[in-house]
Amino acid sequence: MTSSQDDGVIVVDHPLVKHKLTLMREKDRSTKSFRQLLNEIGMLLCYEVTRDLPTEMVEIETPLTKSMQPVIAGKKLVFAPILRAGVGFLDSMLELVPAARVAHIGLYRDPDTLQAVEYYFKAPSDIADRMIVVMDPMLATANSAVAAVERLKERGARDLRFVCLLAAPEGIARLRGAHPDVRIWTAAIDERLNEHGYIVPGLGDAGDRMFGTR
Ligand code: URA
Repeated sequence: MTSSQDDGVIVVDHPLVKHKLTLMREKDRSTKSFRQLLNEIGMLLCYEVTRDLPTEMVEIETPLTKSMQPVIAGKKLVFAPILRAGVGFLDSMLELVPAARVAHIGLYRDPDTLQAVEYYFKAPSDIADRMIVVMDPMLATANSAVAAVERLKERGARDLRFVCLLAAPEGIARLRGAHPDVRIWTAAIDERLNEHGYIVPGLGDAGDRMFGTR
């Protein structure tokens, strides 16, 4: 898979990701299909965000002989979806990394102020010793992302990454400005935010589209 990296932002630049994302943007796409595509892209993004995990050699026995082979070493993972849309990435990521722990972060966007309001937080107690992958499909104003990373850091997290489907330039600038240690993986960077804080051209409200609400 190819990816382009610029100043802490990694755009996962793969034909499958591009194709699936285009389908997701279509306004008449069904909830079922939207969710399925989000799952599929989630898996491809997970593949990239875990690309540099360290490995160590262990001895195993194949049917033919003893052999030294690599396994993942070092820090274990925590997947941290921002509720509710972040949950759309969770199943596919857990499918690739079944031993990961999960932190749930409940934040909603106040429609008037666009500020993130916390209503739920539950994380493993040892997040200081783990690599945390914070996930939310849309990095728009980044208010939720910044707040989620702040909450996790308050509880001890030190090694964080952020994964999204679509990012607005404004959201990238805000998250990178507030947390320069947190790199961002995204399937695409769109043009801008509109006056309601939606990404343009975007795909609308990711939570509503994946859960069939609205
Ligand atoms: N959240 C969404 O679901 N969509 C946007 O365009 C912006 C924030």
